[in-house]
Amino acid sequence: MSYPTEVLPVEGDLAGAPNLLRAADILRAGGLVAIPTETVYGLAANALDEKAARRIFEVKGRPADNPLIVHIAEMDELAPLTGGVSAQVSKLAQRFWPGPLTVVLPGSSAVPNLVRAGLETVAVRMPAHPVARALIKAAGIPLAAPSANLSGKPSPTTAAHCFEDLNGLIPLILDGGPCGVGVESTVLDMTGNIPSVLRPGAVTPEMIGAELGEVALDPAIYSEPDPLGPVASPGMRHTHYSPKAKVVVLKGAWESCKSFLSAEQGDGVWALVFEEETVDCPLPALSLGPERESEAHARVLFALLRELDEKGAKLVYARSPGEAGVGLAVSNRLIRAAGFTEVTV
Ligand code: TXA
Ligand code: MG
Repeated sequence: MSYPTEVLPVEGDLAGAPNLLRAADILRAGGLVAIPTETVYGLAANALDEKAARRIFEVKGRPADNPLIVHIAEMDELAPLTGGVSAQVSKLAQRFWPGPLTVVLPGSSAVPNLVRAGLETVAVRMPAHPVARALIKAAGIPLAAPSANLSGKPSPTTAAHCFEDLNGLIPLILDGGPCGVGVESTVLDMTGNIPSVLRPGAVTPEMIGAELGEVALDPAIYSEPDPLGPVASPGMRHTHYSPKAKVVVLKGAWESCKSFLSAEQGDGVWALVFEEETVDCPLPALSLGPERESEAHARVLFALLRELDEKGAKLVYARSPGEAGVGLAVSNRLIRAAGFTEVTV
């Protein structure tokens, strides 16, 4: 089906905002709406309606083995989606919800198989964005929402990014302004003996460890998964966040990087560097923000990857922050955008 896709702001008193109520009607009727969250924009549908959720996979071109996150607005919506809420999960929810943390729990049969991609587990998150929360409440249903990009493209952090990817494919995009966090939520597997981070985000392993005492990092965060082997989070197997340009992560002292980049000058060759490095970068460059501010890098990263495409970049050398705090999430997205190609000089 083809639509004239509308992009509408949500203004004033959220609970009664006409555009928000319209989005709620579309969702209740089994339709799709792109919505703002504090991490990235989501492509939402009724999580309990298999047919509605199937449209998400069709529209995004998403592989059927990649499960969706179910979004809720209140704590009492959690239990019916899961096979049980442990004391540890309650503790996490109290500390980090609403916010950029997704927990993987034993699933209940209320969540269609398709949403769980056939797994026994379900991923749930309570977003903090006021528009997302008001919408879930107004619709009165939990919302399945992957990032609102076409599969393989960088996640959208503005309504304009959603329009770029989804124009004609869905009836409505709610504009809630640019996303504050900029990278997708932390995905934490709570079904094993030790909580395990499957995808790093703004809720860092340090923060989770401080709450639960113990936390593991899934090996797939750092390394290219075996295409045939098992993975804890199916999303880790697929190519992600890729601009059209080939991306290479560039590590080393800036002085050495400069010599390296000087020799790489050429048509369509760009650099993605820290703000301090823009002044003497030998290549045309976009800035990730000050080197020490990983939150700033997270906020702009996906928009920059899209901008490099617009500029016609063919090859991009990207600097990557250290792995402390949110830096882990940023470096994880960058190494994936680079298809695990890195050069150390
Ligand atoms: O911040 C976010 O999480 C955004 C916003 C819209 O909420 N959503 C998002 O969804 O990033 P998506 O579909 O792009 O990423 C969901 C990730 C995938 O890596 C998927 O494999 C993983 O969560 N996931 C979902 N259900 C899972 C499950 N039952 N077990 C393991 N991983 C799961
Ligand atoms: Mg995604």
